[in-house]
Amino acid sequence: MAFFTTDDIPDQTGKLAVVTGSTGGTGFETALELARKGAEVVIAARNSMKGDDAMRRIRRAVPAATVRFEALDLASQASVAAFADRLLAQGRPVDILVNNAGVMALPKREVTVDGFEMQFATNYLGHFALAARLLPLLKAGQARVVQLSSIAHRRGRIQFDDLNYARRYKAWPVYAQSKLAMLMFGLELDRRSAAHGWGLTSVVAHPGYARTGLIGNGPLTGRPVSRALMGLLYRPLIEPLISHSQQAGALPILMAATEPTVKGGAYLGATRMNELKGSPGPVKAEPQALDTAAAAQLWDITGRMLGVRFAA
Ligand SMILES: NC(=O)c1ccc[n+]([C@@H]2O[C@H](COP(=O)([O-])OP(=O)(O)OC[C@H]3O[C@@H](n4cnc5c(N)ncnc54)[C@H](OP(=O)(O)O)[C@@H]3O)[C@@H](O)[C@H]2O)c1
Repeated sequence: MAFFTTDDIPDQTGKLAVVTGSTGGTGFETALELARKGAEVVIAARNSMKGDDAMRRIRRAVPAATVRFEALDLASQASVAAFADRLLAQGRPVDILVNNAGVMALPKREVTVDGFEMQFATNYLGHFALAARLLPLLKAGQARVVQLSSIAHRRGRIQFDDLNYARRYKAWPVYAQSKLAMLMFGLELDRRSAAHGWGLTSVVAHPGYARTGLIGNGPLTGRPVSRALMGLLYRPLIEPLISHSQQAGALPILMAATEPTVKGGAYLGATRMNELKGSPGPVKAEPQALDTAAAAQLWDITGRMLGVRFAA
């Protein structure tokens, strides 16, 4: 097909879409465009004030939008369980689940309430548990499930002997591992859905390099000098050349979530400048992401770590 734009999103009336981390960045744009096309959208995020603001902005752009906030902290397994229980109690099938929330390259090792390393827990473990717990609703909706990966997965290795980087924390390799895990998880979910007849379509997407809050919320936290230099030099002079807007960054996600010809197991991203920017389309997964034995091993270990399983 020609370049996918928001005009190509089919009518979503009657669908329920859950977008994690949709108070800002690509998640917000995804929620906004799904609402514009008529989906009922759940802003699944951890900060209710930001949630209210996101809903206000969506309703301002789309007065007829049906959008609501549900508290979800991906870094807390109890929060993930409570969120899933609320949706299960409501009983409404989920048509689209976008596992978008994320943090990148936190300078110091942080640990969640459950004792997991923060990036791995937020980006991957929380979303694994969420999808597992929501499986009955995802099956009922024959859902599209979209996992957020990144070009950073290229440098990722799954450290099976130290998944939480307890021995030697390194901000970027930890992020890369979490995004590789999301890519492997998305592909494995599609294989398992096909094998067990769950009826899901699992697709992986990456935004390229999109100008969102990700850098400010991650590698620049607690670094005022770097932040100031970024604002003075990098942001105005270099970044625009190698990145695109957060609206453009959301397009591969929206394509993965809605484009009728996209098949389960697809990996979509920005297609120009080594996948940093440009129109959305199929992109390259590195060999370590295609290792099916490692993906199965990661799936089993994750289920045991979290005490959750995909029970049909
Ligand atoms: N921007 C890029 O160039 C790029 C490239 C590759 C991949 N990605 C991926 O795209 C996704 C979205 O990132 P973004 O660029 O849009 O960054 P962003 O602007 O920082 O947005 C991240 C979102 O995730 C939420 N979040 C963080 N921790 C959370 C938690 N524990 N529970 C619930 N929500 C949480 C944030 O909420 P708060 O506001 O409450 O912090 C925010 O809404 C991430 O998975 C990221 O890895 C982005």
